[in-house]
Amino acid sequence: MAVSLKGRDFLTLKDFTKEEIEYMLDLAADLKEKKKKGILTKDALQGKNIVLIFEKTSTRTRCSFEVAGHDLGMEVTYLDPAGSQIGKKESIADTARVLSRMYDGIEYRGYGQSIVEELANYSSVPVWNGLTNEYHPTQMLADLLTIREQLGRLEGVKLTYMGDARYNMGNSLMIACAKMGMHFTACAPKAYFPNQKLIAECEEFAKISGATLTFEEDVKKGTEGADVIYTDIWVSMGEPDEVWQNRIDALLPYRVTMDVMRNGADDVIFLHCLPSYHDRNTTIGQAVGEKFGLMELEVTNEVFESEYSRVFDEAENRMHTIKAMMAATLGAFEK
Ligand code: CP
Ligand code: NVA
Repeated sequence: MAVSLKGRDFLTLKDFTKEEIEYMLDLAADLKEKKKKGILTKDALQGKNIVLIFEKTSTRTRCSFEVAGHDLGMEVTYLDPAGSQIGKKESIADTARVLSRMYDGIEYRGYGQSIVEELANYSSVPVWNGLTNEYHPTQMLADLLTIREQLGRLEGVKLTYMGDARYNMGNSLMIACAKMGMHFTACAPKAYFPNQKLIAECEEFAKISGATLTFEEDVKKGTEGADVIYTDIWVSMGEPDEVWQNRIDALLPYRVTMDVMRNGADDVIFLHCLPSYHDRNTTIGQAVGEKFGLMELEVTNEVFESEYSRVFDEAENRMHTIKAMMAATLGAFEK
């Protein structure tokens, strides 16, 4: 039976089958090709309106939703972290019911996953998770598309995630690998492994897909033969500055260096969701770097700028995959 995702929320990849994820990746590849050829898709969702709620800041995700929305012919409203009544003067439930009377889709970036779930429960239109503390599912579609483009396959690919694997990126990559039949390794100190409940859920997905999940403290073992080495910043949005000291103490041995990359497979690639502290050319990179005597944090500038790095292909794919996900859940291109 043909896949249809019309009317579905997009909150975490846990809710989607391998076939449904592949459907969105194929659609993204098709839309990407159309865009490169200058073929317009503005009639796909003309007359529809979407709203983007950002309780945390963003460059890639916001711009991807905006450009993708416009490319599909939609009007877009952006609500910035201070620009709405949400949570302060109006509950999530009331916000969801108001916005679904005006819009055809609602994007939410913010704190707990329970907030985006509540929005979805009360909304009568699709709700899309643009990042929560727990999950970052639109990033996963971009990462999977990038890996597929770069390596020509997903099944059997060995992906090693280095750093804080308990948070949105580590959690989401483990889910994505478990769904797609990939080999996921969290390479981090034990305290930074994903929680047992999520690991157990992913083990169930892995039984179906043939994926494996590995948790490794040793950098040499954890990165040996990896096809993809992935990292993220060590302190995420919304976390207090005080945690930097602990994170640096714990995660500095897990920084992605040229030695780490050389330990991977011959055609290993480096991915990072971005933004990244690979140099001191940011306010935080400069302040933290100066305080702790470091020129770079989770990845060296040498790796970031190297032939291994595919981070800008990955960033571009945010837009193509978000476009596909919105098109699919809003029922565009369905016969
Ligand atoms: N990767 C990502 O989500 O980037 P932004 O925070 O810029 O949206
Ligand atoms: N873990 C990071 C991801 C940013 C895309 C954060 O939540 O800030």
